Amino acid sequence: MTSKTDFHSLRVADIRRETADAVSIRLDVPESLRERFRFEPGQYLTLRAELDGEDVRRNYSVCSAPLDDELRIAVKLLPGGRFSSFANDRLQVGDQLDVLPAAGHFTAIFSPGQERRYAAFVAGSGITPVLSLIKTALSVEPGSSFTLFYGNRMSSQVLFLEELAALKNRFMGRLAIFHFLTMEEEEVALFNGRLDREKCDEILTTLIDPCATDLFFACGPEGMMTAAEQALLARGVPEDRILLERFTSAGSSPVLDEAAQARALAAAGRRMGVILDGRKLTVTFDADRGNILDSVRATGAAAPFACKGGICATCRAKVVSGAVEMRLNYGLTREEVAAGYILTCQSMPISDDVVVSYDS
Ligand code: FES
Repeated sequence: MTSKTDFHSLRVADIRRETADAVSIRLDVPESLRERFRFEPGQYLTLRAELDGEDVRRNYSVCSAPLDDELRIAVKLLPGGRFSSFANDRLQVGDQLDVLPAAGHFTAIFSPGQERRYAAFVAGSGITPVLSLIKTALSVEPGSSFTLFYGNRMSSQVLFLEELAALKNRFMGRLAIFHFLTMEEEEVALFNGRLDREKCDEILTTLIDPCATDLFFACGPEGMMTAAEQALLARGVPEDRILLERFTSAGSSPVLDEAAQARALAAAGRRMGVILDGRKLTVTFDADRGNILDSVRATGAAAPFACKGGICATCRAKVVSGAVEMRLNYGLTREEVAAGYILTCQSMPISDDVVVSYDS
């Protein structure tokens, strides 16, 4: 039986330097795992490595499209980033990486009969999942178009610059790309500076008609995403036409504020039932750890996680009984929350009869 805690060891088939501080990595998927590693455009993989004796996990978006018939992710070097510096500096072709199959909701259904207008606000490595979405949308839907607003510091740091230019030629007239640079001056003032709220407002006034756009994507740093989202909502774009993908750099347990600490203390010692990989465990909530996920892992059980920041949803479980409080949620859809799903890295039990299932 396979479970969502199962990492698979995949061989690094190719490493391509995309910019001075980013590589893309192609992973070999053996025939026996093809089905498990099928992905939708916009999804990410969770990677795991043992670095200096520590189990380090990170999520990286897939930059290839399902039609490309390859599984490729991009990893940008972050200051102090343990996994990203390992991937940029030490990883070699032929190495094995532990990988979980694709996950994430930052995707849409594309079909040949559809004629839609898509647009994306992106900054830095936020282009990674959007590249996959662009390729898929324009390949699958011959009548659709895509407009990309792409922010970076300088042109030498623009990830996938050449690939995007090639896509523009390939899908002549259907892909529009606008670059915004913060550290280089362009002649047109609109293209200078970051994608903040003012800039997003200007874009929605001068470059695109938000009401004539069917679906917006936004991926990048929190500030840019909020600016894009707020600008779109202010123009009357309904929430369900805006898809956001938050990037995580965390990987460590969240720090609780005072009120949350008090609630965690109140929950200390509560016993919970935890269903994982077909087994039912009894776990005591540990106030010092502050969340269900870390309490489960403290018993030695391999409950799944990646970001520990409420974003990736790798730690998702379903509340089978009892009451649970979830502090933060960027990773679950409204439907999932309504169906009883929680992010265990953000949750604590608030009744005595809690049972959660990682298997549901
Ligand atoms: S581990 Fe990412 S949301 Fe919990």
